[in-house]
Amino acid sequence: MPDNNTYLVTGASGALGRLVVEGLLRGGATRVIATSRNPASLADLAARGVVTREADFNRPETLEPAFAGATHLLIISTHEVGSRADGHLRAVAAAKAAGVRHLFYTSHAACDTSTSPVAPEHVVTERAILSSGMTYTILRNFLYAENLLMVLGNALEEGRFYGTAGESRVSWLTRRDCADAASGAMLHADAHANRVYDVTGPRAYTYAEVAALLSQVEGRPIVYEDLSEDGYVDLLVGRGLPRPAAEVLLGLELSLRSGEMEPVNDMVRTLTGREPETLESFFRHGRGAAVAPESLDFLQHEMHDRA
Ligand SMILES: NC(=O)c1ccc[n+]([C@@H]2O[C@H](COP(=O)([O-])OP(=O)(O)OC[C@H]3O[C@@H](n4cnc5c(N)ncnc54)[C@H](OP(=O)(O)O)[C@@H]3O)[C@@H](O)[C@H]2O)c1
Repeated sequence: MPDNNTYLVTGASGALGRLVVEGLLRGGATRVIATSRNPASLADLAARGVVTREADFNRPETLEPAFAGATHLLIISTHEVGSRADGHLRAVAAAKAAGVRHLFYTSHAACDTSTSPVAPEHVVTERAILSSGMTYTILRNFLYAENLLMVLGNALEEGRFYGTAGESRVSWLTRRDCADAASGAMLHADAHANRVYDVTGPRAYTYAEVAALLSQVEGRPIVYEDLSEDGYVDLLVGRGLPRPAAEVLLGLELSLRSGEMEPVNDMVRTLTGREPETLESFFRHGRGAAVAPESLDFLQHEMHDRA
């Protein structure tokens, strides 16, 4: 139903951002602003009546003009792991200066206790949001099912994939479910004011259970081999990944061992009004069209920082 709110999504040319904008339009939002470092990449949205503007968190002068007029603004965390906190803080400050009423943010599950290398910048950003004085909703997204495409690698050809997460479980959810949860929260903002939500998948799986599910879907055996920490790094380095990047991936795997990605809740249903997509459905129907995250891109930033 149309309202007087003006919804803004940063990073709208990213895989998640695009889906959030689509969700807002589908949900009846009539005033939508989409921002990107490269607004030309949003020409198709502009043709559909979306206002497109440049906003680059690393170019502070772009932010306040880009955010002007927005009442409900979603900051999509950037993929520049290791160098993104300052940009996020600039975006929070610019939202406040531009008069945004309700700020939304895509965060990371259990970021305040996680040992994951991607967590600390989310903690810094969440704190800034909480102390900004703006009404907020923080969406702590669990892991995208699309990430599994990287974990699985050549599993379909080799019948085997590797990790070092042991028996820990992850409640994978699709990027689309994260996006629809975000647009749902924005469109019903008052119901979600000043809340921090875990946004989880519908069931948590060990990698061995992922292997069993994939075997069932593919109709041939695919197994999971749990490696030692050194064995995992050696495998990745042997496949051509620079050692610092392999160590970042090791850090991601080790963080799973705490069980931080195991919780399952009904937040996707609460925010979207429909059931989340199951991993089986993703394997059967979504996998072909799925876009894997720009993992290597974020590893470049980590490697640069550690050099
Ligand atoms: N939960 C998970 O499993 C998971 C996995 C991977 C990533 N993530 C996080 O979720 C975010 C969205 O995921 P995705 O799949 O859409 O990633 P993606 O397609 O790689 O998109 C990266 C996003 O970062 C934005 N960005 C990069 N630098 C920026 C800057 N200087 N200023 C403003 N925006 C900037 C991009 O916006 P423009 O290109 O439009 O400027 C784009 O929205 C990622 O950036 C990352 O923080 C979560």
